[in-house]
Amino acid sequence: MNISSTKAIISGGASGLGFACAKMLIDNGGSVTLLDINKEQGAKAVAELGSKAHFIVTDISQEQQVESAADKAAELMEGINLAIGCAGILGAGLIHSKKGPMPADYFQKVVDINLVGSFLLTRAASKHMQANDANNGEKGVIIHTASIAAYEGQVGQTAYSATKAAITGMILPLAREFARIGVRVMAIAPGVFETPMMEKITPEICEQIAAGIPNPSRFGKPVEFAKTVKHIIENQYLNGNTIRLDAAARLQ
Ligand SMILES: NC(=O)c1ccc[n+]([C@@H]2O[C@H](COP(=O)([O-])OP(=O)(O)OC[C@H]3O[C@@H](n4cnc5c(N)ncnc54)[C@H](O)[C@@H]3O)[C@@H](O)[C@H]2O)c1
Repeated sequence: MNISSTKAIISGGASGLGFACAKMLIDNGGSVTLLDINKEQGAKAVAELGSKAHFIVTDISQEQQVESAADKAAELMEGINLAIGCAGILGAGLIHSKKGPMPADYFQKVVDINLVGSFLLTRAASKHMQANDANNGEKGVIIHTASIAAYEGQVGQTAYSATKAAITGMILPLAREFARIGVRVMAIAPGVFETPMMEKITPEICEQIAAGIPNPSRFGKPVEFAKTVKHIIENQYLNGNTIRLDAAARLQ
């Protein structure tokens, strides 16, 4: 797909990796609609991105909100041919901690935002993509964000890792199902990236984490994530898989 013709909905697009993708698309002539729960950050993001960017306050875990946000985005951009799922929360915690057992509704919330939200975005976006005219056999591209925690989750990442592993598990059946409507589905599993999500970590811990990343020995930059998204959009032969983007990092 040609980047300049993209009409993208981006969940979690107001910040971090999602915002970097929005900027990359706008810089290359595309249109974006950010679906994010953070009103203030969303307004700031579109002000920075300019007139081809829109923002619809959306809780990605809420079925009706996602459906109506996608309908509105399709109206604003005259269609949707790209969806990028970047909304997510860390949901860290031990199953048994000093505070007691992890409440089931805490675990459920991580599942609802990270996993059910990815499903809802997929369903809403693909509904609109089906109506597109095929361009070189292609009507749309969907890209989700997993994590290397899908493969080697650390202590305290049970909920987060479960949702990210589930995202990687959805990609192949989705790609197979959507082959008949000309929509490709991919995921990226980032290592550790410099985003607001990571700002809660102290500088000492950041240094320790960076030292454990083989090469280059630093956090990834959101623009490096956006470059991978750009490649997936442009390379029609990428489908049904998850790309690790981690500088050879393996969580211990
Ligand atoms: N930063 C990293 O190191 C890293 C590593 C691996 C995976 N990831 C994944 O990348 C994605 C993007 O994370 P980021 O680092 O850019 O974090 P971020 O916190 O900067 O961005 C996440 C965005 O999601 C939004 N969001 C949260 N809950 C939402 C909801 N219910 N509905 C709609 N929007 C919601 C937030 O408002 C925020 O704008 C997440 O899925 C995260 O799990 C990040």
